[in-house]
Amino acid sequence: FGSAATQIQRNPAYSELTSDDVSYFKSILGDNGVIQDEDRITVANVDWMGKYRGASQLLLLPKSSVEVSKILSYCNTRRLAVVPQGGNTGLVGGSVPVYDEVIVSLAGMNKIISFDNVNGILTCEAGCVLENLSTFVENEGCIMPLDLGAKGSCHIGGNISTNAGGLRFIRYGSLHGNVLGLEAVLADGTILDMLTTLRKDNTGYDLKHLFIGSEGSLGVVTKISVLTPAKLPSTNVAFLSCNDYTSCQKLLLAARRNLGEILSAFEFMDNNCIDLAMRHLEGVQNPLPASQTKFYVLIETTGSDESYDKTKLEAFLLRSMEDGLVTDGVIAQDISQASNFWRIREGISEASVKVGAVHKYDLSIPVEKLYDIVEEMRSRLGGKAEVLGYGHLGDGNLHLNILSSKYDNNILAQIEPFVYEWTSAQRGSISAEHGLGLMKAEKIHFSKSPEAVQLMGSIKKLLDPNLILNPYKVLPQSVL
Ligand code: FAD
Ligand code: MLT
Ligand code: ZN
Repeated sequence: FGSAATQIQRNPAYSELTSDDVSYFKSILGDNGVIQDEDRITVANVDWMGKYRGASQLLLLPKSSVEVSKILSYCNTRRLAVVPQGGNTGLVGGSVPVYDEVIVSLAGMNKIISFDNVNGILTCEAGCVLENLSTFVENEGCIMPLDLGAKGSCHIGGNISTNAGGLRFIRYGSLHGNVLGLEAVLADGTILDMLTTLRKDNTGYDLKHLFIGSEGSLGVVTKISVLTPAKLPSTNVAFLSCNDYTSCQKLLLAARRNLGEILSAFEFMDNNCIDLAMRHLEGVQNPLPASQTKFYVLIETTGSDESYDKTKLEAFLLRSMEDGLVTDGVIAQDISQASNFWRIREGISEASVKVGAVHKYDLSIPVEKLYDIVEEMRSRLGGKAEVLGYGHLGDGNLHLNILSSKYDNNILAQIEPFVYEWTSAQRGSISAEHGLGLMKAEKIHFSKSPEAVQLMGSIKKLLDPNLILNPYKVLPQSVL
């Protein structure tokens, strides 16, 4: 057994689960916290894309940090490997077992602990679903500093563990800036309280950053405190078409300069994405059906003065058309039109999966070069697969999706290692926001120096000497 997507062997140092283990877990979590039901286990063994599949026989549902601590302390002593799981929407095979790892789901830890509405600071458990947190803070006059297409399922703990970027990054920046504090449970069961809500705190090493983006390999995140910016009353969304990639770049520069403080999203997609979305997403309409152009850009503005913001956006669009950067465009007239624009952009992942097999690359590349890899990939593959380019252009983050009806090693051989070598040659990142997971654990050297990877290995061994947390993921086996 094991995932079809890895060649790594099961590490024989890990114990196999026994009925005594199950009895112990029942003694600390009760029967409801210990899931062996085949249907539920099957769901938890497979990732969102249906690409990575493990063979775990046990799903644990702790309700508190103390329960997480007891689970990990026991697994550490027994050498039982563990995979922490949030909403299971990760895209790199990090959230599901590779072999028979015990799945520790945070779904039962979904309480809001407090909200400080003077400073806009939310404190909650790690298993809260992002969309529920958004609804909660919006009722308090704030918004979450991140938003992504998986909001209805992903957990804030999963977002933090992947350091998710998403659609608001251009405005509010990384979770490394927005997360003020967190609590994590280490492999030996130690509960590490770093749950500060202070804006400023320069007392020693800022350890929380180790857990932001380490994909469950250093500890299980159990609580978090996060800054929530004010919810501003005026939002506008425009959907635009551009003839070429150079115009998209110039439009980005113009948007930064002319929309300035109200710019809240700048997303781009090529016409292959639009075609795909129209083929596979129900109920969406192409906002610019007559347009024959190659690129589309979604711009969102958010500000505090409705008429000022609208006038500013309209003037910007007019100037962009006069300058020839934009060939056509439409500003949403109501919420339903705005959500149709967003549905197209956010639905690209869902539409991609419907084709069958999807090879996903999530690259940071200097904006001038960002689309070159899409074109090179198209000519390498010569029509054997569909190649899409889209992403968070404002953050220099390209999503390169290569789609075919089924997984095919000949196609993969055309893509890898070329895509990683190309990105490395640009001094780009082979994972801008999705993480390394299982997919790219052995590829880290394309983006990080040998010395940096060695130090990461040392940190991993210090915090998790028996390597029970999320094995085979994030780091290459050679440094462990
Ligand atoms: P999971 O998928 O369950 O886990 C992800 C990783 O974190 C795994 O390694 C897991 O072991 C670990 N983990 C989860 N919870 C914890 C915890 N409490 N403690 C320790 N480790 C934990 N990502 C972006 O960055 N930007 C996007 O715009 C974006 N859009 C997406 C859109 C769609 C439709 C989908 C399906 C995914 C998207 N993603 C995006 C991928 C992204 O990584 C996840 O959606 C999200 O951040 C993962 O959260 P999750 O709770 O589902 O975590
Ligand atoms: C996105 O920006 O849509 C996501 O990161 C998800 C994806 O690329 O599939
Ligand atoms: Zn993304």
